[in-house]
Amino acid sequence: MDLKGKTVLVTGSSRGIGEAIALAFAQQGANIVLNARKPVSEEMTNKLTALGVEVETILGDVSEFDTAKMIVDKTKELFGSIDVLVNNAGINRDKLIMRMTEEDFDATYQVNLKGSFNMIRHALPLMLKQRVGSIINISSVVGETGNVGQANYAASKAGVIGLSKSVAREAAARGVTCNTITPGFIETDMTDALSDKIQEQMMSQIPLKRFGKTEDIADAAVFLSKSDYITGQTIRVNGGMYM
Ligand code: NAI
Repeated sequence: MDLKGKTVLVTGSSRGIGEAIALAFAQQGANIVLNARKPVSEEMTNKLTALGVEVETILGDVSEFDTAKMIVDKTKELFGSIDVLVNNAGINRDKLIMRMTEEDFDATYQVNLKGSFNMIRHALPLMLKQRVGSIINISSVVGETGNVGQANYAASKAGVIGLSKSVAREAAARGVTCNTITPGFIETDMTDALSDKIQEQMMSQIPLKRFGKTEDIADAAVFLSKSDYITGQTIRVNGGMYM
């Protein structure tokens, strides 16, 4: 897909990986719809509009089915299409399973897996009608490996991989692709919050000996959206942490 003038909707794009993904697509000439629960900074929208593309922000919680519909409908109203959907919004509530509450599990599932389903459920009919589209779901390396203290998060992210492969099979006949990116340890607010000890443990498992940058994930997202022959795949961007 040539991204110039296309519409790219990125959930959870007020900061971190989502912000880098939005920026990378804008650099390709795509119009951007930002989404987050809280207002996006003016600095961020200015950075994007300076690239000469159109930028709109639609606030809303993707874990709510009807709100996800509103985000999709408003995007369609503003731009007439959704060519790329990046399901990036995600949260973690890390705790050992023996201490994990039902609320910790449900909240993580509700945003990470159900949120991705909600957005796909509402955006896919439009993409199928267009006979072109790319869906990219941001999962995590721990969705494939599991992790101590992340049973809820890992389960939700593993679910994203199954969701993605199924959508890929269902949508392929109409030229719509669906892929997953599983980031390793990426430097963002989410990972800054981890203790030094956990960060050191993580580093010891990364053959390339550096934490990932948000741009590493953004580059993979742009690459996937440009291909119309890659679908149902899980692309690992993790410095070799899991092969
Ligand atoms: P972050 O915490 O810095 O940003 C998350 C974004 O999602 C924010 O914009 C927040 O407002 C938004 N968000 C959260 N819940 C939402 C909801 N219900 N509705 C709409 N927006 C919502 O996170 P970060 O680190 O940038 O992560 C982005 C994605 O990458 C997440 O899905 C995360 O699980 C995944 N990931 C991150 C890794 C890392 O090392 N940072 C590693 C593997 C995966």
